[in-house]
Amino acid sequence: MPIAFEKVNYQYAPNTPFAYEALKNIDLAFELGKITAIIGPTGSGKSTLVQHLNALLLPSKGTVLVLDRTITHTDKPKELKSLRKRVGLVFQFPEYQLFEETILKDVMFGPLNFKVDEATAKVQALDALKMVGLDESFAEKSPLDISGGQKRRVAIAGILAINPDVLVLDEPTAGLDPQGSKAMMELFVRLNKDHGKTILVVTHDMEHVINYCDNVVVMAEGEVLTHQLVGDYFERKQQIESIKMNLPQLLAFKEALIAGGFDLNTPMRTLDDLADAIAMELSR
Ligand SMILES: Nc1ncnc2c1ncn2[C@@H]1O[C@H](COP(=O)(O)OP(=O)(O)OP(=O)(O)O)[C@@H](O)[C@H]1O
Ligand SMILES: [Mg+2]
Repeated sequence: MPIAFEKVNYQYAPNTPFAYEALKNIDLAFELGKITAIIGPTGSGKSTLVQHLNALLLPSKGTVLVLDRTITHTDKPKELKSLRKRVGLVFQFPEYQLFEETILKDVMFGPLNFKVDEATAKVQALDALKMVGLDESFAEKSPLDISGGQKRRVAIAGILAINPDVLVLDEPTAGLDPQGSKAMMELFVRLNKDHGKTILVVTHDMEHVINYCDNVVVMAEGEVLTHQLVGDYFERKQQIESIKMNLPQLLAFKEALIAGGFDLNTPMRTLDDLADAIAMELSR
């Protein structure tokens, strides 16, 4: 069962003077059971792309295949509810999607909407809050009375409580502190490794891509430039610089060492890899 785009175009404000083609002829298949990063400059179409995955946006042209569903511009939102149980999407600014009186009610909304009984929904909501690092003392607070980073966690918990097979996260760590951001990425890795969830994550953070993701999709100006294994992608420095993204620090440091005369031309993903390569070089 694929998650794929076939010749997809998406136009905002069609048939108006403001018509704008945000996705152009996208052909792309995501690997199930993996963590895929979606990167690219601001305005390149990442958010537009991922909103197709639970049919929040319908393609103007072409077809989106999500698990056993085929989505085209003729679909009706009503018929797509079952899809939203299986594909959870956390928006780029999820804090705006909180609307209930209490955090617990907000997180229970998804399960209740999918006809889970009240008691079970409560258990699922409290579990999900715990997963994102919010203990029971938050349950009865208003979502308006917490920090931006905490709101983001609540929104993510709201999707986790539905227990979808595919998690789509649009910049989930923006605005979190470094510890919180790391904990959030580690949560996604656990959901992937221990529970087999497919994770698609939009990010501007190259450290997250190299540390936590299997595959990377690079977008620019509404098109997919490349879709590769993360290890292969970062082996080609020019490719990264050409879209004005930064190298992860590890690789920037490796490049600086090479420029300084070190012979370090082995692939590396972690600080340990780099430390080993330097030790080897120094012992020669
Ligand atoms: N509601 C909208 N109406 C018209 N144009 C839009 C709308 N939303 C986005 N766009 C345009 O579509 C293009 C792609 O936007 P999108 O939000 O998908 O980019 P992005 O890659 O997610 O950027 P960022 O990294 O800033 O979040 C941009 O040029 C944007 O201005
Ligand atoms: Mg975006």
